[in-house]
Amino acid sequence: MRLLGIETSCDDTAAAVVTDGCIVESSVLASQDEFHRAYGGIVPEIASRKHAEMINAVIELALQKAGRSFADLDGVAVTCGPGLPGSLVVGVAAAQALCTALRLPAYAVNHLHGHIFANYLGPAPKGVEPPPAPFLCLIVSGGHTDLVLVETAQAQQVIGRTVDDAAGEAYDKVARLLGLGFPGGPVLDSLAQHGNPAALAFPRGLTRDGTYNFSFSGLKTAVRYHLDAHPLDPQLSAESLHARKADIAASFQQAVVDSLCDKTLKAARDLGQTTVALAGGVAANSALRSQLTLRAQALGIDVRMPPLEYCTDNAAMIASAAFYLGEQARVRPAALRIDPNFAW
Ligand code: KG4
Ligand code: ZN
Repeated sequence: MRLLGIETSCDDTAAAVVTDGCIVESSVLASQDEFHRAYGGIVPEIASRKHAEMINAVIELALQKAGRSFADLDGVAVTCGPGLPGSLVVGVAAAQALCTALRLPAYAVNHLHGHIFANYLGPAPKGVEPPPAPFLCLIVSGGHTDLVLVETAQAQQVIGRTVDDAAGEAYDKVARLLGLGFPGGPVLDSLAQHGNPAALAFPRGLTRDGTYNFSFSGLKTAVRYHLDAHPLDPQLSAESLHARKADIAASFQQAVVDSLCDKTLKAARDLGQTTVALAGGVAANSALRSQLTLRAQALGIDVRMPPLEYCTDNAAMIASAAFYLGEQARVRPAALRIDPNFAW
């Protein structure tokens, strides 16, 4: 079964062709970073307008790269939420038009379900062996930090979540405090590799609360207080300034990674889970990937993580989710609607 996936929930316009939920024939993405950078964050009106400008070209390129035409498709899967209303509506309108004109089935996909299914994706011709269910999936993105028990591909249960900021949001805010630009996560990740993760003792939120929830706003505030008390002196040499920023980045990152690994591995042990999967933009983080792998190995737990390109937003994961969710996601094309607060 070959599906076209469409994803426009935030600031990336994406389309992909995926066969049988796991074989990625093409995955195309038009990033809008350059248009939002000057504002230090995503401007919803700009995001919506750029999606409208790019959507047709991105869909056509996805088909072209896959060597397919509209006639080769068995359906169209689209992200309906959660996300920015003005962004979601562009992808949903495109999917609705295609399904109506081509008489194809439509699939309405929750973006967060999509992130989980990034773990089911591999390159053509064979794809990848899906993670064995049940497994625990840690979704860490710009808007969400959710710990999910995936009982089967169709049945998921959220067992923990952030009580304040999402992990990616904390990365972006701390990157802004350090003057690293937008988007902050990847830049902070590289800078942290030059710093000492033990240089500063930043707090780990909710360590002893007995839940699988997370908290990152205290950590972000601690970084701000540290910078208020010890400002980045512009008189310092470029080298010293870089070294100070790198120590702050590495210490902040270690606090995030410790919190994420502690809670995830505690949940895996408590619930007897032997496989843990990562998903979402922060799953691209080098320290999280390596430290979770090492710590899990020591406990006899397998770790699965998507290739970097499928951690951050993409449309292949949306097509995969639609394949595995099947009838659960299928809707009449005329009934396709955005759902900006799409709950689990
Ligand atoms: O999943 P995603 O592409 O979009 C949302 O659904 O939110 O995640 C984007 C988030 C941003 O906050 C970005 O800074 C963060 O993922 N991110 C990273 C890295 N790459 C992306 N955070 C830490 N380290 C990275 N390497
Ligand atoms: Zn996302």
